[in-house]
Amino acid sequence: MFHIGKVVENIAINNSRDIVKMTVSLDSEVILNVKPGQFAYITVPGGKAFLKRPISIAHNNGRELVFIYRKVGIGTEELSKIVIGSEIELMVPLGNGYEYLPTKNYIALVGGGVGIPPLWELSKVLKRRGNVLDIYLGFKTKTDIFLMEELSLYGTVYVATEDGSFGYKGFITDVISDVASSKYDCIFGCGPLPMLKEVKKHSNLFTKGLVSLEERMACGFGVCMGCTVDTTRGRVRVCKEGPVFPLEEVFIVD
Ligand SMILES: Cc1cc2nc3c(=O)[nH]c(=O)nc-3n(C[C@H](O)[C@H](O)[C@H](O)COP(=O)(O)OP(=O)(O)OC[C@H]3O[C@@H](n4cnc5c(N)ncnc54)[C@H](O)[C@@H]3O)c2cc1C
Ligand code: FES
Repeated sequence: MFHIGKVVENIAINNSRDIVKMTVSLDSEVILNVKPGQFAYITVPGGKAFLKRPISIAHNNGRELVFIYRKVGIGTEELSKIVIGSEIELMVPLGNGYEYLPTKNYIALVGGGVGIPPLWELSKVLKRRGNVLDIYLGFKTKTDIFLMEELSLYGTVYVATEDGSFGYKGFITDVISDVASSKYDCIFGCGPLPMLKEVKKHSNLFTKGLVSLEERMACGFGVCMGCTVDTTRGRVRVCKEGPVFPLEEVFIVD
């Protein structure tokens, strides 16, 4: 589970310059078993943060893992300063990802902000399985936009910005309601709680739904019970039983 990777890229990818793409080459067969929606627990270099930071696996090319993170505090700020060629320590892969991967379904993927990165790997895998994808992405404003081109290789991309500076004006969940959500077999979501709550509102329209939850973490691998949430099957650990859960099991309160 503990690995040392080499950082081969660490660059800002949006016009706001706060979203960073970090590519890490990993000389381990573990990379072949990574599932979409799983995450890594990354040591912040320089001893500036005691706890590691959980970041989703955005993309996996069989030799390198790509992470996409927003600089929000000390940990992600320090990660963004890692220079190319440096080694980093990470625990990977962690958690249960999107285990249910249908074939030949019509699927809606919904992502908001830094919930969007895991949809990259997920859409690649779903497309390979013959599914048809509509991919809904929500941002605050135009300069925040990232991954739109990469995701459009796998499906039709719809974008909403809260201020209307690009795409539809408003929340991306409003767009899904407008585009007759009942036409989809499944919905897969990852993003802020208010977005997931809206997704859950429509859940009776889908055969199946999976959403990825975010919680603050301490150990990252199921020991401390610091990341538990209530579900219909009792309290579960986001880092171990999750972060991806069936939509019908989770209570989403923002
Ligand atoms: C399973 C999982 C996957 C994740 N994947 C990604 C990803 O792919 N890309 C990405 O950018 N982020 C992701 N996150 C969130 C990321 O872990 C946090 O943003 C990061 O740990 C913040 O560390 P920091 O030291 O920079 O900020 P801190 O200094 O710790 O906090 C700065 C601010 O961010 C808030 N914050 C910190 N962690 C979280 C969190 N988990 N949820 C909500 N608010 C938080 C704090 O309340 C504070 O306001 C993921 C979290 C989890 C649990
Ligand atoms: S972070 Fe320790 S159990 Fe999840």
